[in-house]
Amino acid sequence: MHPLQCVLQTQRWGPLASVSWLLLRTCRAHSSVPSTACPSSERQQEDGVQKDFSSRLASGPTFQHFLRSASAPQEKPDMEDPPPYLTVDELLGRQRKVYLETYGCQMNVNDTEIAWSILQKSGYLRTRNLQEADVILLVTCSIREKAEQTIWNRLHQLKALKTKRLRSQVPLRIGILGCMAERLKEEILNREKMVDILAGPDAYRDLPRLLAVAESGQQAANVLLSLDETYADVMPVQTSPSATSAFVSIMRGCDNMCSYCIVPFTRGRERSRPVASILEEVRKLSEQGLKEVTLLGQNVNSFRDSSEVQFNNAASTNLSRGFSTNYKPKQGGLRFAHLLDQVSRVDPEMRIRFTSPHPKDFPDEVLQLIHERDNICKQIHLPAQSGSSRVLEAMRRGYSREAYVELIHHIRESIPGVSLSSDFIAGFCGETEEDHLQTVSLLREVQYNMGFLFAYSMRRKTRAYHRLKDDVPEEVKLRRLEELITVFREEATKANMASVGCTQLVLVEGHSKRSATDLCGRNDGNLKVIFPDVEMEDVNNSEVKVRAQPGDYVLVKITSTSSQTLKGHVLCRTTLKDSSAYC
Ligand code: 5AD
Ligand code: SF4
Repeated sequence: MHPLQCVLQTQRWGPLASVSWLLLRTCRAHSSVPSTACPSSERQQEDGVQKDFSSRLASGPTFQHFLRSASAPQEKPDMEDPPPYLTVDELLGRQRKVYLETYGCQMNVNDTEIAWSILQKSGYLRTRNLQEADVILLVTCSIREKAEQTIWNRLHQLKALKTKRLRSQVPLRIGILGCMAERLKEEILNREKMVDILAGPDAYRDLPRLLAVAESGQQAANVLLSLDETYADVMPVQTSPSATSAFVSIMRGCDNMCSYCIVPFTRGRERSRPVASILEEVRKLSEQGLKEVTLLGQNVNSFRDSSEVQFNNAASTNLSRGFSTNYKPKQGGLRFAHLLDQVSRVDPEMRIRFTSPHPKDFPDEVLQLIHERDNICKQIHLPAQSGSSRVLEAMRRGYSREAYVELIHHIRESIPGVSLSSDFIAGFCGETEEDHLQTVSLLREVQYNMGFLFAYSMRRKTRAYHRLKDDVPEEVKLRRLEELITVFREEATKANMASVGCTQLVLVEGHSKRSATDLCGRNDGNLKVIFPDVEMEDVNNSEVKVRAQPGDYVLVKITSTSSQTLKGHVLCRTTLKDSSAYC
């Protein structure tokens, strides 16, 4: 008999299908290490747990129960009402030490803290020392093949650690969290027998249960995607006490279905967190003394909080001119302009940024607000992906090159001095040399301050995988990518040169990694600024000389630049309010 005990549930919404499953299988059936490798005390202990567990499992969960617990992510973990095959005690972390490692985007950084917040409440401890960990959790990324390869390589390293640990009292448990768990599901458990836990991006509330199951030597997985999970009530734990900035997740998922992108399949449908809970988190961060929040989401400016019924009849907001969507128009709810307005009022000394937006959702209200409000950074990420209208159509981005360029002009008119960044993909299906040159010319035309450039990586499940041919040879993709990087750098250096001689407001982060005598911070456009750590005046008290600390605002006169960093000398310590007029 196959040792796998698996319950499948399929749920369909629109174009997305998600398979949710909870999976349990015995240690010996899957372990690559012979059972004799287990020390007898541990084996006896495990045998006891296992028999007990197996008998409870046999008499315990029904099919209905699995369906219920599969949709449990929306509920808080209920310690008083554990699933029938676990005791309350087994659901608790019992001071086990968890080591968390994050890969990929800022959403994953935030998700790591959400996962940790949930585990901490369950009695787990966190360790920064891999060697002393009882549980290692990797928060993973699937966006490109290379991102996944990094995880596979890491798993091979961890295998050695786990094998060694099997001889100790507490066996090491390894979990894959996030997009890769969602994309590959049981393929991971089959390929890497040493993985004990799989948790998709919407299943973090289920981690205490998954870990409890893994404790008894079973593999455990929950990869159910949710229509409404936003972890609104889970406040991520601020891990570094000296941190000046934090990420605040405001929405999850994506409905855009760009033809190359795996995100809608790994992170599910778009849903927004209620405004009230976002404001509560921002207020708490302000009380903790943080000076910068970055609002996070896959399509952060498509935000639409429909949780308050009275706002649900509101007319739909206009898309940027010349932009369309792959989905039916959505109506009502509190939109991004409202949220941005509210968030920026919480603390005038707190900088507000947001990422990653979609170019289609930049109505004038948003642009005006960014222009008017001193503490909303004049920095916009506007992922173009390609400079060729033909490729943009194949990518299903919903705009042409012309519409994108018109939007750039409109943004620059609305927010003078705005700093712009973008994402580009080199070598998408069918991209010709002429298409590539169109992208080069867009980079020259816009002159971005920052850029994120990638070679196209075919992802299974996507529309491009099913309908298009990945026909640009790897070496051509890489050559085109190199060309884009070179052009981007040249243009960014030119764009940054305009800052030389200007005085910029910099939020100090700490000492420069390269030199203990220099400080490092970020300007309004999010570029790194390096300057000597010297005494300076404070604008509010000219009597005393001060040294800048992390979290201070200082004025820095820019003296030189490269494509990625600015250098200068510090003039004085100031506040955000007192420094609105510069350059
Ligand atoms: N291949 C290469 N780059 C990709 N991106 C998304 N999917 C792929 C892919 N399959 C890039 C896009 C996106 C950024 C987050 O990653 O540029 O904006
Ligand atoms: Fe992927 Fe497009 Fe959604 Fe961005 S907008 S996450 S590129 S599908």
